[in-house]
Amino acid sequence: MGAVRVLITGSNGLLGQKLVHDCLERKLSFFGVSSGENRNPDCPSENYRSLDLTQHDGVVSFLNQEPFTHIIHTAAMTNVDACELNPSHCYEVNHLASQRLFEIAKNKSIHFTLLSTDFIFDGKQGNYSETDVPHPLSVYGKSKWLAELDLVRSEYNNWAIARTIIVYGKGHQLNKSNIFSWLIQELSQGKEVSLITDHFRAPTWAVDLSKGCLSIVENNAKGIYHVCGPETLSIFDIGIRVARYLGVSEQLIKPIDSTILNQPAPRPPKTGFNLTKAQIELNYRPHPIEATLDSLR
Ligand SMILES: NC(=O)c1ccc[n+]([C@@H]2O[C@H](COP(=O)([O-])OP(=O)(O)OC[C@H]3O[C@@H](n4cnc5c(N)ncnc54)[C@H](OP(=O)(O)O)[C@@H]3O)[C@@H](O)[C@H]2O)c1
Repeated sequence: MGAVRVLITGSNGLLGQKLVHDCLERKLSFFGVSSGENRNPDCPSENYRSLDLTQHDGVVSFLNQEPFTHIIHTAAMTNVDACELNPSHCYEVNHLASQRLFEIAKNKSIHFTLLSTDFIFDGKQGNYSETDVPHPLSVYGKSKWLAELDLVRSEYNNWAIARTIIVYGKGHQLNKSNIFSWLIQELSQGKEVSLITDHFRAPTWAVDLSKGCLSIVENNAKGIYHVCGPETLSIFDIGIRVARYLGVSEQLIKPIDSTILNQPAPRPPKTGFNLTKAQIELNYRPHPIEATLDSLR
């Protein structure tokens, strides 16, 4: 393929930081943008600028100055409960800003990859394939699905959607913790944790997800891809696996039911993805949980 230059939106985020790392390692030309100052020490200052993607004029003038062949659009409002409590901001960031960025990509013939989520599904079925019909329960899920629909319904087909599930990993000054980092921190101090038994997910190591996204770029892959971890577990069982890995008592994990949490956003009970398409077309080979946990300590 010809010379590639990738725009990574959300380069301060968990996935964005891994993408920056992998682009540097592969010597792929890239540029990162996020809303705040650069918090990723791996991202050289000359490869970064703060850019609020909801400010359309700024986005247009930036993309008129900087030529890109690919955009990996990871930037989003990712706190599901905050989205439920502030829907207009959520739709502005996750839907409308994505829609406008995609329009620019289309006009400039840039390959566009949108990061999306298992929360576009209602979680009744589980083990979802790319062809299953979305039915989001939450504002966050709807906002992401609306962003997907702009791509799916466009006559421009130079795009991919990478749907993923609970992303975890280590990063610099991230906005939020993730379940594995939190579990390792609590359990290694001998603290009890309460985890729900009735929600099932396939947690995704950010390192694997980044490789999946770059495989999309390097193959100019088009269409929808499910890109998550290899195993679907209850949140409670995730805790058990971390306790075993740490060699601490499994009694520290207390089973609870999601109904007692009273979280603002409704969540799909059972997700998890069928990975066959990504395995075949992207050579996607995600690591089992135990192979990833050393990287979090
Ligand atoms: N994390 C998960 O469990 C999960 C699960 C399923 C799908 N996903 C999807 O995967 C993608 C990556 O997730 P992540 O966990 O890496 O996200 P993250 O750590 O929350 O990072 C989000 C990034 O988006 C940037 N951002 C937010 N609003 C912006 C705006 N208006 N303009 C420019 N940048 C903005 C943030 O910049 P600042 O930090 O500078 O504010 C940050 O760099 C997201 O699209 C998410 O929806 C994530």
